[in-house]
Amino acid sequence: MKKILVIHGPNLNLLGSREPGIYGRTTLKQINDALRKIAKTRDTRLTIVQSNHEGEIVDLIGKNKSVYQGILINPAAYTHTSVAIRDALAAAGIITVEVHLSNIYSREEFRHKSLITPVVKGTILGFGPQSYTLGLEALLDLIEK
Ligand code: DQA
Repeated sequence: MKKILVIHGPNLNLLGSREPGIYGRTTLKQINDALRKIAKTRDTRLTIVQSNHEGEIVDLIGKNKSVYQGILINPAAYTHTSVAIRDALAAAGIITVEVHLSNIYSREEFRHKSLITPVVKGTILGFGPQSYTLGLEALLDLIEK
């Protein structure tokens, strides 16, 4: 059985009511349910964590590097600021897919830079909740190869 760590960064707990014009009306629970549905069909166990705290995300990645075969992460605002999360991912060396609901390149300029992208296998963005399901499928395909 494959084990995947899913990390949702800050403010993603508010999905459903948070800036619906940008992020839509789908809740985090609905996203997680869709991911679990995929996992069930692909012999995969998901550990899903949402955190608003940078250090907690760093610990989570560092402590579990021998447990998981893959990481699916939406670092949210930390995408643009966190050298610490980037370094944790680089140190862990686990296959990682970065996802974003919105197209960060069509938004404010401060969102155009991801500190995370250089250390992940690939990034899926702009497809709303589907970014997550596409990301998980791609991650599992990579691990099964
Ligand atoms: C986000 C994009 C980030 O710029 C933002 O800070 C988020 C969500 C996305 O999924 O579109 O919180 O990661």
